[in-house]
Amino acid sequence: MLFFGGDYNPEQWPEEVWAQDVALMRQAGVNIATVGVFAWSDLEPEPGRYEFGWLDRVLDLLHDGGVQVALATPTASLPPWFTLAHPEALPVTADGVRLTHGSRDTYCVSSPAYRAAARNIAGRLAERYAHHPALAMWHVHNEYGTDCRCDVTAAAFRLWLQKKHGDLSTLNEAWTTSFWSQRYSDWAQIGPPRATQYMPNPAHVLDFRRFLSDELLDGFIEQRDLLRAANPDVPVTTNFVQGGWVSVDHARWAEEVDIVAVDHYPDDAGAGAEEQTAFAADLARGWGGGSWLLMETGPNLIYTSGRMHAKEPGRLTRHSLGYVARGSGGAMYFQWRQPRGGAELFHSALVPHAGPDTPVFREAIALGRTLRNLDVAATDQPAARVAVTWDAPSWWALQGPGLPAGDIDYLGAVRQAHRALYRAKLQTDFVFPGVSTDLGDYRMIVVPHLYLVSDEAAAAFRDYVAAGGTLVVTYLSGIAEPDSRIRLGGYPGAFREVLGMRVVEWHPQAPGATVALSADLTAGRWIERVETAGAETISLYADGPLAGAPAITRNRYGAGSAWYLSTALTDDSLQTLLHEIAASAGVEPVLPDLPSDVEAVRRGDLLFLFNHGGRPATVGDVVLPPGGVRIRSADVEGAPVGRG
Ligand code: GAL
Ligand code: ZN
Repeated sequence: MLFFGGDYNPEQWPEEVWAQDVALMRQAGVNIATVGVFAWSDLEPEPGRYEFGWLDRVLDLLHDGGVQVALATPTASLPPWFTLAHPEALPVTADGVRLTHGSRDTYCVSSPAYRAAARNIAGRLAERYAHHPALAMWHVHNEYGTDCRCDVTAAAFRLWLQKKHGDLSTLNEAWTTSFWSQRYSDWAQIGPPRATQYMPNPAHVLDFRRFLSDELLDGFIEQRDLLRAANPDVPVTTNFVQGGWVSVDHARWAEEVDIVAVDHYPDDAGAGAEEQTAFAADLARGWGGGSWLLMETGPNLIYTSGRMHAKEPGRLTRHSLGYVARGSGGAMYFQWRQPRGGAELFHSALVPHAGPDTPVFREAIALGRTLRNLDVAATDQPAARVAVTWDAPSWWALQGPGLPAGDIDYLGAVRQAHRALYRAKLQTDFVFPGVSTDLGDYRMIVVPHLYLVSDEAAAAFRDYVAAGGTLVVTYLSGIAEPDSRIRLGGYPGAFREVLGMRVVEWHPQAPGATVALSADLTAGRWIERVETAGAETISLYADGPLAGAPAITRNRYGAGSAWYLSTALTDDSLQTLLHEIAASAGVEPVLPDLPSDVEAVRRGDLLFLFNHGGRPATVGDVVLPPGGVRIRSADVEGAPVGRG
């Protein structure tokens, strides 16, 4: 059974509305509600005084209506009484400013008082609801990803550093502290990175982000263990959020949750929304290693920078089924009912301010029916012969100070690689060389901007190619060791041997720059001076400062081959190139001859066909209306088993 539902905040509504909510949920086929995410001040209005009566009634009402519950611990948003009593638990910014109560996420995860209060409320909920018949899973906290630079955090950071580096001389070496007289002679001299006169030390900044990931994870694990102890049969999860500000290494966290759950909000109103949906779903499947769940997305709105965009008819369905096709255990949204007030009063909802007699709710009813008719097991997942690497610490390092260009964009580079494969109709997985050196048995692995690479990961990539794999490495990969110390002898350090070449100069270009390459390819923002050492040149720079020099190379290594892309190819050029490389590696598209606007995904026995374009499209004997979806049994030529 696929989950269909989302965040439900009955505490914001008079009780009369609840019965109407459950009736509407039944009408739409909603079978899960995430309850209590930020409800702490309604659950514990005064320290030690609990009001569980309303939650009892909500859970019973949902249960009677056939709706299961993902019950949240409310620890991402503190009640005013707590922060007044514990001002020291409020977070401190890099500028040394202590934040004030007034929003959510305003706590220091290292604060003993905060942690005790969080354990307490989680424990009370566990005690009361661990065996409630409506309980499907625990949803701990919300979107871990906060930051604090207070003195308590500083002490925790030092302990973390001691564990990691052992002694100060190792840390001094790893951080290159002889640069600008930063050599530490006592652990007490080290604090979190705070505002300073000029650029901070990149290794310091990077270790702090890794620390934050581990520190937040400790907070999660504390709650998880309490909840598990109360009833080991109920899975525990937390909703992963992606963003450049988030210091959480989800590939590591994935090992600690019972099911990987992700929130995803595309930020592009155009075709980028569908491409980002595929990207986020493929990445989540990689984290989930077998199953995962879309915990939140906006049903009827896309948040672009600075403007909300109302989704076109059918797009809620296409997006939702997009996640499901790529392995999600359901489609869940933020949120059920649009609130009357509060900071997110205009955010997306299944029941908007205008009520249920609206396009979004009508589309939800039809979607609920489609999801009910789909028969997929959690373990039915799309299978891919191509993978792309993902590494959060490389992202963090490429946000650091002192880089050769201001517009280096790790997420952009990974998305671009994924998008090129998506447009070439190749089903794609993700691998996580910073967490596991198991590179699977993919025919082809694309490595965009993998800036930090350990010796073990470098060896795994060599073995992979030697055994017959096809590796495609882009510029800004293999540059540094995991502690961000540069690998000497020429870029891309860790990959030099397998690639049979080296880079001796970077030539970052102005935004919007265009550089022509031979073989009909075009590039831009970034070019490099490459010297081959065994590799053959596949494409040359045709103009610009490096005219005549190699731009794209290929090296035969053992039974496989390793490609190097020294430049930022345009989307079209990257798609053409990856398509050709994939074909030579024996990777087939999901279906042959798919129209450009059609996305096809196989999950188990089902074949999902999406028409993202504005005209009808034909795939075999299936006619897809504009913006339509057809789902059919992959091995049975027959009628669609569901439609959107
Ligand atoms: C999510 C968050 C929700 C809500 C939503 C708004 O990232 O988890 O609580 O803020 O965004 O779209
Ligand atoms: Zn702190």
